[in-house]
Amino acid sequence: MRTVLLGPPGAGKGTQAKRLAEKYSMEHLSSGDIFRAEKASGSELGEQIAKRIDHGKFVPDPIVVEMMTRAIVEAGESFLLDGFPRTLAQARSLDESLATRSATLDLVILIEVADDEVVERIAGRRIAPESGCVYHVTFNPPKVEGVCDESGEALVHRADDCEEIIRQRLKTYHEQTQPVIDYYRNCEGLDMFSVTGTNKMPDDVTESIFAAMQQRI
Ligand code: AP5
Ligand code: MG
Repeated sequence: MRTVLLGPPGAGKGTQAKRLAEKYSMEHLSSGDIFRAEKASGSELGEQIAKRIDHGKFVPDPIVVEMMTRAIVEAGESFLLDGFPRTLAQARSLDESLATRSATLDLVILIEVADDEVVERIAGRRIAPESGCVYHVTFNPPKVEGVCDESGEALVHRADDCEEIIRQRLKTYHEQTQPVIDYYRNCEGLDMFSVTGTNKMPDDVTESIFAAMQQRI
C-alpha cells in the first residue's frame, strides 16, 4: 500500500506511523528522521540540512525530492510517508516519480490537531534517534525516565523543539502544506480520510485510524 500521512508538526504522525506501519507491513519513511540521520552523519549535506531544520525552516525542495525518491524506490511497493510531501512542488514530483513506475498513491491520512495543543506536545517530547520511538513526559512517558523502552538508548530533546521554532513551523505548515491537503482532496480517484487528534490520547487516535483502515481492507 502506498500511503501518505499528513498533519501539522506535533500531530502525532511519528507516533501513529510506527503503529500503522507495523500493523499493515509498510516501510515507515519519515523525512524528518532521514534528515536528522544525515545531520548526525556529519556529512556536508547533513550540515546544510541542519542549518534549515534546527531553525524550523523547510529543506529546499530539490534536496527533499532527491532523498525521499531514493528512499521510496528502496522501500518497494508498500510504504508510509511521514512528513513528505509538504509543498505542492513535492506532491507533484511524487506523482511524477510514481507515474514513471506506472504507480499511484493508494491512500492519504490526515491527522488534525489544534495549534495550541501542538505547542504543549512538542515541549514535552523526547525521542530515541536509533529506534525511532517517540515519547512525551506526560502523555506517553517511557517506563524508565529518559530511557527508550525498546532500545535502552538515552532519550533526547530535538533541536527544533522550542516554542519559538514550533510557532514558526506551524506558520509554515499553514502556508505551504495546507495547499497539499487541498491538492489531495481534489485528486480524482484518490482515497483520503482524516481523524482528529485534538484532546485525544495516542491510543484513541490509533483506534480511529485502524477503524477507518479496516473499512478499506
Ligand atoms: P519532522 O521530523 O517531520 O517534524 P514535523 O512534521 O514538524 O512533525 P513532528 O515530528 O514534530 O511531529 P509528529 O507529527 O511526528 O508528532 P510526534 O508523533 O512526534 O520534520 C522536521 C523538520 O525537517 C521540519 O521542520 C523541516 O524543517 C524539515 N522537513 C521535514 N520534511 C520536510 C519536507 N518534506 N520538506 C521540507 N522540509 C522538511 O508527537 C509529538 C509529541 O506529542 C510526542 O511527544 C508524542 O509523544 C506526543 N503525542 C503524540 N500523540 C499524542 C496525543 N494524541 N496526545 C498527546 N500527546 C501526543
Ligand atoms: Mg515526526
